[in-house]
Amino acid sequence: MPPRKPPSTEVLLDVLESLPPGQRLWVRGAGRSLYPLLRSGDSVRVLRCGPGQLARGDVALMRRGRQLVAHVVVSTRPWRTAALLGSEDPPGGVTLGRVVAVRRGQWVLPLPRPFRPALWVTQQTLALAWARPGTRVVYRRVRDFFFSGWSRPLRRALVGPLEVRLLHVDDLDALLVFAGERLVVSSGFLRRQLRERWGLAEPHRRGAAAGAFDAQGRMHGFAWVDSYRQEALPLDGVWVRSLVVAPQVRRMGVATRLLTCLMDEARRQGEPRVQADIDDDNSASLRTFGGLGFRPAAPELTRRTNQAWDAAGRTKALVVLEKDLTV
Ligand SMILES: CC(C)(COP(=O)(O)OP(=O)(O)OC[C@H]1O[C@@H](n2cnc3c(N)ncnc32)[C@H](O)[C@@H]1OP(=O)(O)O)[C@@H](O)C(=O)NCCC(=O)NCCS
Repeated sequence: MPPRKPPSTEVLLDVLESLPPGQRLWVRGAGRSLYPLLRSGDSVRVLRCGPGQLARGDVALMRRGRQLVAHVVVSTRPWRTAALLGSEDPPGGVTLGRVVAVRRGQWVLPLPRPFRPALWVTQQTLALAWARPGTRVVYRRVRDFFFSGWSRPLRRALVGPLEVRLLHVDDLDALLVFAGERLVVSSGFLRRQLRERWGLAEPHRRGAAAGAFDAQGRMHGFAWVDSYRQEALPLDGVWVRSLVVAPQVRRMGVATRLLTCLMDEARRQGEPRVQADIDDDNSASLRTFGGLGFRPAAPELTRRTNQAWDAAGRTKALVVLEKDLTV
């Protein structure tokens, strides 16, 4: 019998934690740390148990804050976990259980315990290769090459046409799947904002969220515009937040369409301008916003924005851009 469709991450955290040891559950949205074993939209079957029941080479499902992550156990004493392709995790997190299978569409890949040494060796080999600066340079070049203009027709044909539009409350599931894979925003926040602000019909809508959807209703790009005070940051005006486009549809104008859709809505709601803060080394994003006429904000706003984020624990320098919506 095919496994039942799992509930959202937010609900799953509560369900998982109250599940007795030995019980199993299908879980979707366990992060991207097991890529390419685990990809966007895949589910994992978790056997509820504590860290004492896990060994090196097992895949642990862990809770970090309000996020679920599936990571390879690289050592139990001391307890250390790592992404399949990346470095080790910082300490912390609560172990919820062992991943015993991965499901992609109709395919189920069991992860039996004899598989452990192979997974451990694979993780160690990949992590070692990944730690070499040369590997990353090659990876970035291959990635940039793949996602550049030449592959656009192929990617366009594979994904099909995308509809870019404002989100309504019925889009919650698609949003949570996308967010589970690509955003570092709590699903509780997204759910609340969509239900109470972004997803409402006119004239009740406040702020807005936009998504790029394929013919099957899957989301491939997302961003929202809203007051920063919704996130408890002491900054005025409305800001574009969480702009992310899935790699397979990059350089197809999706971000440009998402931003245009959000700016139209912000203008309709009477906002005089829209702002964005961007990591100073994120050239793809800076160019995308620049192409839409965003210009550097006043130095004072840039200073206050960096200060607000520093106080919230972030250390990267941000460039603040703004676009006048009245012209
Ligand atoms: C930044 C990002 C949202 C751009 O999405 P996108 O859909 O590929 O952007 P668009 O296709 O609308 O690009 C618009 C223009 O921006 C520039 N641009 C976008 N990505 C670029 C890249 N990787 N390198 C150079 N220029 C780039 C180009 O001028 C592009 O126009 P062109 O393709 O006609 O030359 C996407 O790369 C992404 O999701 N990155 C990871 C998350 C992120 O950094 N988000 C921004 C947080 S502020």
